[in-house]
Amino acid sequence: MPPVEHPLFSRVWSWAMRHEPAGVRRAREELLAGLEGRVLEVGAGTGSNFDLYPAGVTEVVAVEPDRVLREQAAVAAAKRETAVPGTRIRVLDGTFEDLPGDAAGPYDAVVCALVLCSVADVPASLAAAHDALRPGGELRYYEHVATDGWLGGLQRTVDATFWPRAFGGCHTHRDTVAAIDRAGFERVTHRDVRLAPTWAPVPVAPMALGVARRAA
Ligand SMILES: C[S@@+](CC[C@H](N)C(=O)[O-])C[C@H]1O[C@@H](n2cnc3c(N)ncnc32)[C@H](O)[C@@H]1O
Repeated sequence: MPPVEHPLFSRVWSWAMRHEPAGVRRAREELLAGLEGRVLEVGAGTGSNFDLYPAGVTEVVAVEPDRVLREQAAVAAAKRETAVPGTRIRVLDGTFEDLPGDAAGPYDAVVCALVLCSVADVPASLAAAHDALRPGGELRYYEHVATDGWLGGLQRTVDATFWPRAFGGCHTHRDTVAAIDRAGFERVTHRDVRLAPTWAPVPVAPMALGVARRAA
């Protein structure tokens, strides 16, 4: 797979993470609530989730392909390890489709936050998540997703024009929850959430937050 480097987007994303809306922060808390044991987080960005992992998480293996974001994630990991010495966080270079050898499972959970919109191959990424989990392990997802109607039309238009190039390979019209079902996960919880009011022409507004499990 070609290297995933988006120098402009990584700077924009770093800025966005320093100004993250409170609602997104609360969704991240819900995403990670109750996790324990070993966790694989792929496409970890600047490490925005790290300080929100519950103390019961003993190890996070965080994979991030973009060098600029990975360096920031390493700083966030060191901060969290100092604050909560019981949680070890390793930040590694790699992609979902080609996980590094030292990210080998099994894991109690795989965390996907705003990443399945950007991977090159969704089925391959979800197959990698499934393989990395222990039987009964959880996929935790917080992703923006495809919708229908006029906003769905807008999503298709932006995906076919400027959006993926402007936003680091992001696609707004991906039916990510159906892809999770197809990958063999059992849905445990699922909630539709919104980043913006229904009237707002924001392609990334429709979001999904939930837990799906690898069969025991
Ligand atoms: C919108 S950012 C989200 C970052 C982080 N997950 C968060 O919640 O803040 C998308 C992330 O996916 C990463 N990414 C893009 N393609 C990827 C791939 N094929 N495998 C893993 N991560 C990827 C990007 O480098 C970026 O960090």
